[in-house]
Amino acid sequence: MQALVLVGGRGTRLRPLTYGTPKPAVTLVDRPFLNYMTEWLGSHGVDEVILACGFLPDELKAVLGDGEPGGPKLKYLVEEETLGTAGAIRFALDHLDETFFALNGDVLADLDLTSLWNQHAETGARATLGLYEVSDSSSYGLVDIDEEGQVLQFSEKDPNRTGAGLINAGTYVLQRDAVAEIPAGREVSIETEFYPSITGKGLYARPLDGYWMDFGTPERYFEATWDIIEGRIHTQVRTNSDGVHVSPEAEIDPSATIGPRAVVGPGVTVGAGAKVNGSVLLEGSEVGKGAEVEASIIGPGVKVAAGDTVGDEVLGKNQNGEVVNA
Ligand code: GTP
Repeated sequence: MQALVLVGGRGTRLRPLTYGTPKPAVTLVDRPFLNYMTEWLGSHGVDEVILACGFLPDELKAVLGDGEPGGPKLKYLVEEETLGTAGAIRFALDHLDETFFALNGDVLADLDLTSLWNQHAETGARATLGLYEVSDSSSYGLVDIDEEGQVLQFSEKDPNRTGAGLINAGTYVLQRDAVAEIPAGREVSIETEFYPSITGKGLYARPLDGYWMDFGTPERYFEATWDIIEGRIHTQVRTNSDGVHVSPEAEIDPSATIGPRAVVGPGVTVGAGAKVNGSVLLEGSEVGKGAEVEASIIGPGVKVAAGDTVGDEVLGKNQNGEVVNA
């Protein structure tokens, strides 16, 4: 079984962490973000993942390689120009199975993909969207369906809307012959152009239970981190009792205070008397003696000087290697 994962975006909302590292390769707790997706896909029978890349493909390959041992094999397709979410799937046409999963590459989830696949087969759909119910739907577009799961309409996000609603979870089962109808060689959005064009013509959807999060902003990065550490998503991760994950390859002075809630990555050093809470220290970062870090992400290789205080910041290196805040 095959999945095409869209990883070509620039991840602008997660800057500065994504200046030099594509979003799927950014570390989330103890591994590159994409490894959670491949673990999830593998648990539903996917054995081949095609990564539709655009931005920083070489960096992605360097971090993710051929995939994890025992997990789906990774293949890379590189777009020379931005093609959008549907254009990128069209670009992959020659590599696609007759029926395949397609996913946004920034979804952290354990939704029931098998039930999505089964409904797709039963209805004979050309495309089936996984939907997810959110309690506050104001910042999302909604999808209306009938009792058989046929999509009736899409509505735009509306800040004045209140209450729950079913949103597009960026998780699809598609037929290759439907993809062949997407115009080639130009930017096409799946949400705003392709799906509206096939509404009423074999477009179905299914609400899915389980965990779902679109991992695109620093706030969501934090939520996802604590959800993983505190066991709200199915995966194996080493933690101690107070919601803290410390890499065995980190060096922490015994007089430093870590937590409640913290991630300390490999190669990180934390000096004497430093305090770190509600924060993530990514690989190779440094917190000097007596420094305090609260509710912040310290990007790879960033140094917090001795005695400094960092609160509510996302620090990372820009293209010139200068440390910048989000
Ligand atoms: P922001 O810049 O922060 O909005 O991030 P993004 O562009 O990475 O994410 P967005 O939510 O806009 O896109 C959803 C998914 O589609 C992400 O996983 C992107 O990597 C991916 N994506 C968006 N545009 C393209 C594209 O032109 N080609 C490919 N291959 N993937 C894309």
